This record gives sequence, C-alpha cells and structure tokens, in this order.
Amino acid sequence: MEYLELIHHRESVRSYDTEQKISKDILNRIAEAGRLAPSAANRQPWKFLIVSSEEMLKSVRACYTKQWFADAPHILVVVGNKNDAWVRSFDSYNSIETDLTIAMDHMILAATNEGIGTCWIAAFDPEILRNALSLSKNEVIFAITPLGYPGKNYQKKNLKNRKSLDEIVQFM
Ligand SMILES: Cc1cc2nc3c(=O)[nH]c(=O)nc-3n(C[C@H](O)[C@H](O)[C@H](O)COP(=O)(O)O)c2cc1C
Repeated sequence: MEYLELIHHRESVRSYDTEQKISKDILNRIAEAGRLAPSAANRQPWKFLIVSSEEMLKSVRACYTKQWFADAPHILVVVGNKNDAWVRSFDSYNSIETDLTIAMDHMILAATNEGIGTCWIAAFDPEILRNALSLSKNEVIFAITPLGYPGKNYQKKNLKNRKSLDEIVQFM
C-alpha cells in the first residue's frame, strides 16, 4: 500500500475472526518491520513477543478483559529493558518508552499493510501481564496489540476524527 493510503487505512480494530490464524510468513514480516525501527543510539532495547499458544494466550488475555481482545488469535507484546536503552547525560532521560513505541508503530503499520487488524492497548493490568510473561524488574511494556484478521462482520470505520492541520501545524 502507498504510505499515505496505509496511514489512512489503519484504524483500531475491535472485532477479530476467531478462526483464522496468521501465517508465520506474515508474522515474520511484521516482526521485521519492528526490527528495522530506529532507536536512540541504535540500542534496540526490545524483544517482540508474539503470543499464539492457547496456554499463554489464556494468561495474557487476563490483563485486558474485553471479548474482542480474547477473540484475536495472536497478541503482540513489545517488551524492553530500561538498562539497555540510551540515557541522555544532561537530565537522565531514558529513551525506552520512545524506542518501544516506534517499534510498535512500525509493526502496527506493517500489520495493516498485510490486512491484519490491530489495536493499541495501554489500559491493560500491568501486574497480570508481568506475571503472565514472567518479566524481570527492569523489563517494561507500554503497549500491546491483538493481531488477527478483522471479524467477518467488521465494518471498517474509515473515520479519522482528528484535529485539522490548521490547529496543529505552524509554519515558522
Ligand atoms: C498509546 C495508546 C493507547 C491506547 N489504549 C487503548 C486501549 O487500552 N483500549 C482501546 O480500545 N484502544 C486504545 N487505544 C486506541 C485509541 O483509542 C485510538 O487509536 C484512537 O481513538 C484513534 O482511533 P483509530 O486508532 O481508529 O484511528 C490506544 C491508542 C494509543 C495510541
């Protein structure tokens, strides 16, 4: 898909086909988009967890209890280690959240390009997710997304409820 078309096309999908799993090739292409994402000082402080086994899905799904989330056959978790991320010397700003967010966005757009539905989710219960994935103290997660084909009755919204360019852009 052409880039601006892809940006317009991506929307939060909250309905998933429970039957149709995503092929390994497609999952690999989505992961490749994350692998190529930029990160501060090229530290790449991330791991991409693609949860697909019934046992793991059961424990991860408990972190966000919407039915549509449980319907998706895969869940993508971008996890990072704060100690691996770049730190700005002036004020100790740690780039972990920025790095993980860019990687997630790359993968969400790559998934859209493959016809796969996604939805950024930040409103998960972090403790449940940490336990499900046996994360260590320094590992952090800012967002997860279901990965799956949109449900059979899914109606694309095609709605971009956004501020106008005039409101947000200043040519200076
Ligand atoms: C950081 C972030 C966190 C979000 N968390 C949630 C969430 O927990 N649950 C949810 O249903 N949508 C969540 N969303 C999706 C937003 O509601 C959605 O992106 C926004 O309303 C714009 O709609 P669109 O994605 O369809 O363009 C989140 C989006 C972002 C960027």
